[in-house]
Amino acid sequence: MGTTDWSHIRSQFPVLKTQVNGYALSYLDNGASSQMPASVITRLSDYHQHEHANIHRGVHHLSQTATTTYEQTRSLVKDFLNAESLEQVIFTSGTTDSINLVAQSWGSSNLSAGDEIILSEMEHHANIVPWQMIAQKTGAIIKVIPLLDNGELDLEVYATLLNERTKMVALVHVSNTLGTVNPVSEIIEMAKNVGAKVLIDGAQATPHMMVDVQELGADFYTFSAHKMCGPTGFGVLYGNKSLLESMPPYRGGGDMIDKVSFSGTTYNDLPYKFEAGTPPIAAGIAFGEAIRYLNAIGMDKIAQRESDLLAYAMDGFSSLEHIRFIGTSSNKTSVISFLIDNIHPTDAGTILDKFGIAVRTGHHCTQPIMERYGIPGTIRASLSFYNNETDIDSLINGIIETQSFFN
Ligand code: ALA
Repeated sequence: MGTTDWSHIRSQFPVLKTQVNGYALSYLDNGASSQMPASVITRLSDYHQHEHANIHRGVHHLSQTATTTYEQTRSLVKDFLNAESLEQVIFTSGTTDSINLVAQSWGSSNLSAGDEIILSEMEHHANIVPWQMIAQKTGAIIKVIPLLDNGELDLEVYATLLNERTKMVALVHVSNTLGTVNPVSEIIEMAKNVGAKVLIDGAQATPHMMVDVQELGADFYTFSAHKMCGPTGFGVLYGNKSLLESMPPYRGGGDMIDKVSFSGTTYNDLPYKFEAGTPPIAAGIAFGEAIRYLNAIGMDKIAQRESDLLAYAMDGFSSLEHIRFIGTSSNKTSVISFLIDNIHPTDAGTILDKFGIAVRTGHHCTQPIMERYGIPGTIRASLSFYNNETDIDSLINGIIETQSFFN
């Protein structure tokens, strides 16, 4: 196995050469959205310049070519996840859309009053609100797995929440705020023992590690392209085939039908049954290029590189005082959520930005985590494989500057 030239890889991301406020950009907001390498940007532009046509609709050359290229992404996603078949790879606009699809389609036909849905205290709002909406409609009840002080789930409480009324366990694979990697295999197995279905929100997992959906055994797995070096507006719902077949369509329109008549309409086969309307074709094709890019580096190497960067960062943080970390599990991705004593996270983020350091501040769409720890928000540095030690040194120096500005 040859060594990976991380500095060459970094040079393939044009935006990282940007100057912000006279400083070299240190982009540490990868949890919100990752950047695209030149090959993905070129793919988007080539498509628009030479290949654009609607898909699944035309006999003409451009339409046929666009369809073939778009469908190649489905094949790449299938292999990336080790999914059993192409029909199980549904394209959506992103994780939020994928979860809403399952909550509405599966939920409306499978939940009744008194049924229970288990979520956790570390869920993103996208894996809370869709379940609250369907619970309100059906009379189902939501139960919540609490967090331990270190940002891991309390699995002892989880065990007590499971019972024959549990119909769905919907849980994040990796927390966007805490970085905690949940023991999803164990959690899924426990849910299966009571006959519950499981949805795993993998938005923060697929950019950072290998995911094998067959090995995990979840009924549904969701993620977004824009956190995996792809464009915004595109994502995936992987699902168990017989469940997907039994579920009603989520949205109606073109492409998702078999035959339409005022006396009754029949629906298309999987995966198209869930793909109404013209999708963001360019984004789908460019996402294929992003997967090729990640595959060429290797998800195992990406995971190792990010773990090395996290260790380097934690070493840098050890020289600082008055820092409180939120999320200290030993099994975590390269997400560092912290507070600086007596400085509001938004103020810290504003000062860091003056030095070209991009971090996210606030509740990170996980208000229940903030409530759990009694904090207004955190400063979150989320690292990607294309970050380097200089980005991290800049962050540490930026924190020192922030502390001296306010003290
Ligand atoms: N869920 C994304 C984040 O964590 C937007 O920032």
